[in-house]
Amino acid sequence: MKNVILLHGGAGSLYNEVEVHSRLLTGFSKNALAFHTPLEITIESVRQMEDHPDFNAGTGSVRRLDGCIQMDAAVMELGNFGAVMNIEKVRNPVLVARDVMLHSPHVILAGDGAISFARVMGHQEYDPGTQKTEDLWKRTKEMLNSSAQDIPARIIEYRKYSRLFDQVRTTDTVGAVCRMDGKFAAAISTGGASPMIRGRVGDSPIPGSGLFVGKNGAVAVTGLGEEIIRRSLSSSIYHRIGKEPLLDVLKSEISAFGESATGAIAVSGEEYASFANKFMSTGHTEF
Ligand code: GLY
Repeated sequence: MKNVILLHGGAGSLYNEVEVHSRLLTGFSKNALAFHTPLEITIESVRQMEDHPDFNAGTGSVRRLDGCIQMDAAVMELGNFGAVMNIEKVRNPVLVARDVMLHSPHVILAGDGAISFARVMGHQEYDPGTQKTEDLWKRTKEMLNSSAQDIPARIIEYRKYSRLFDQVRTTDTVGAVCRMDGKFAAAISTGGASPMIRGRVGDSPIPGSGLFVGKNGAVAVTGLGEEIIRRSLSSSIYHRIGKEPLLDVLKSEISAFGESATGAIAVSGEEYASFANKFMSTGHTEF
């Protein structure tokens, strides 16, 4: 069985973005092979997606209701985990999550403590906002203040917080899973699922929800964090590995999410697969 690195760029892409982004991700997966462990390969894959402004992770992350950008990221291998929640003003949350795992006595750091730790580890202050971020935020505020009748109920719910605002179509979490010489790893990063309140944490930095790695494989998922956490999606997928074809498992687990944009990538000892109920870019390299 060949080694493989598999990436996704988030469920909820626009149709015309998927092909372009999938080519991009295939290139990123190849670049990541400059590294030599499954953990390093997944981290490097996610780092490249964080640095690309099209994805909702690192540079280009969406704004929250108060206009701030808070990001979540995690890395996992068998028996080890590191994550940051609500980190701000860093370029690569996934590298801080790696540092939490490898260079701190903890496995999760959140908020101000995560930012302070990042500075100690040499991550410089950085503004992940882009013009696209600004445009999306502006359009969302307009949407929230509009009297139009066709605004989704999920968005209207946020009007009570609407001193500030954000929502508009954007991609979701980015992630990578790798199988190399029988070992597995996963890495994941997100600006979150807009609209959301400052302080909200999604599925991405929660083991068993946004990602999971065990001796039988690795899983990384994308979608609305609240729904994913309620269903422990990554854990649910992982525990079916080896009992059914991997693609069937992904389809079955994701079918429970209805219309809510949800996707997953996974590798096992024998297979790798990706599936989403909305457009999702993916790229992979066997090696
Ligand atoms: N899946 C990203 C989030 O809900 O935060």
